[in-house]
Amino acid sequence: MKLQFHYGNVLENQVGIQGLAEKEIIKGASRLKKIQQSLQKQREEKAVGFWDLPYQESLIQRIKDTAIHVREKFEYLVVLGIGGSSLGPNSLHQALAGPYYNYLPLSQREGPSVFFIDNVDPLLISGLNDVIELEKTLFVVITKSGGTAETLAQYSIARGWVEKELGKEQVPDHFVGITDPEKGLLREIINRENWLSFEVPPHVGGRFSLFSPVGLFSAACAGIDIEELAQGGRDMDQESRRLDNIFDNIPYLNALIHYLLYQKGKDISVMMPYTNALYGVADWYRQLWAESLGKKLNLQGEAVYTGQTPVKALGATDQHSQLQLYIEGPADKVITFIRVNNFSKDEKMPPLEPENSETDYLSNAHISELLHAECQATQTALTRNQRPNCLFELKELNPYLLGQLYYALQVQTVVTGGLLGINPFDQPGVEEGKKATKRIMRHKKGK
Ligand code: PA5
Repeated sequence: MKLQFHYGNVLENQVGIQGLAEKEIIKGASRLKKIQQSLQKQREEKAVGFWDLPYQESLIQRIKDTAIHVREKFEYLVVLGIGGSSLGPNSLHQALAGPYYNYLPLSQREGPSVFFIDNVDPLLISGLNDVIELEKTLFVVITKSGGTAETLAQYSIARGWVEKELGKEQVPDHFVGITDPEKGLLREIINRENWLSFEVPPHVGGRFSLFSPVGLFSAACAGIDIEELAQGGRDMDQESRRLDNIFDNIPYLNALIHYLLYQKGKDISVMMPYTNALYGVADWYRQLWAESLGKKLNLQGEAVYTGQTPVKALGATDQHSQLQLYIEGPADKVITFIRVNNFSKDEKMPPLEPENSETDYLSNAHISELLHAECQATQTALTRNQRPNCLFELKELNPYLLGQLYYALQVQTVVTGGLLGINPFDQPGVEEGKKATKRIMRHKKGK
């Protein structure tokens, strides 16, 4: 079972001058070997750590063991974090736990209810205390830097609740920290108060941390098979090392496709999964693509103001909201669909009005058939209108294929960074915003 990738609809023979000639792709591929060598060098020098995360087998075992205790002891798991410290675990949960996970009786699900508090919205935070029971709640505080304002704010509120209701001495029993091994405020608190904790390895940034405890811990607590997820990541890593035929290397090929189309004015990269389960993946990808590739300076320090704008859309829902624009609006987009062939649950539609030819096409069809037909129709309509589009195809939703998909998209992003000649691992713009928030808050307090 392997992740499949279909790129035929980006080619000139399908979408005319808006697309790419195969020979263009082959010519562009000549740059990839050098990019691969430079990425490999960074990997060997441990300057970039995300590559090796799926290989940490003893860590995966430790997380699985801890998750067993969490499932025995807690009914609620609340993940506190933002950006890369939240989007990965949240998307994984959406993809594999099922849309109604939190609503099922405890006996019918694999672990505690899971909530991701990825903002500092007052209603989102206050409302949480109305649905959880603190004595049965474990808070997971995730921040690589240990000092992100939003995460510290969420943590301070949650800690206040625990101190007030259960007592200060209960804090270490109700909090787990995931952060840098040495640096930052959260690490200081963990050490001082002896919390259970996991590490985000040095040289792994938030948006590349999915295969670290950032992504794995809450997933394991919800009963997701993180070993299979990691296996998918490892296999995609091995596959993406082979560059003898560019058309067999999914992440390098898709990086090149996106890069070449960007050069032809496709400034927008839309990701459109045809299942709600993968809408979170589109959200995660949006951050990965935007923060990694949206850069002012290239590696030579010259101003280039580069980066394709990522957009997330959901099939079939956004056929009734976005698709008109994609088909007839500016020819500035490349669209990536994700399709899941088989769903673990499905429903057959009973005949609606047996004599009515308006509805006969729905009679006795499965919901999944309608969804697949809509996906195919959208691809056809876009292609006919010369809008390049490609497709990731998953046989089903399982941790292994998700592992392949997550890993492939990370490699695709860093290879695109190589083609653009920028550093995909920093985020100076975000850091500037973080500093400005602190200044404004201090100014308000007269400090
Ligand atoms: O990908 C990134 O590096 C960022 O999106 C961070 O994850 C985000 O800013 C949160 O930072 P931290 O994990 O340090 O709290």
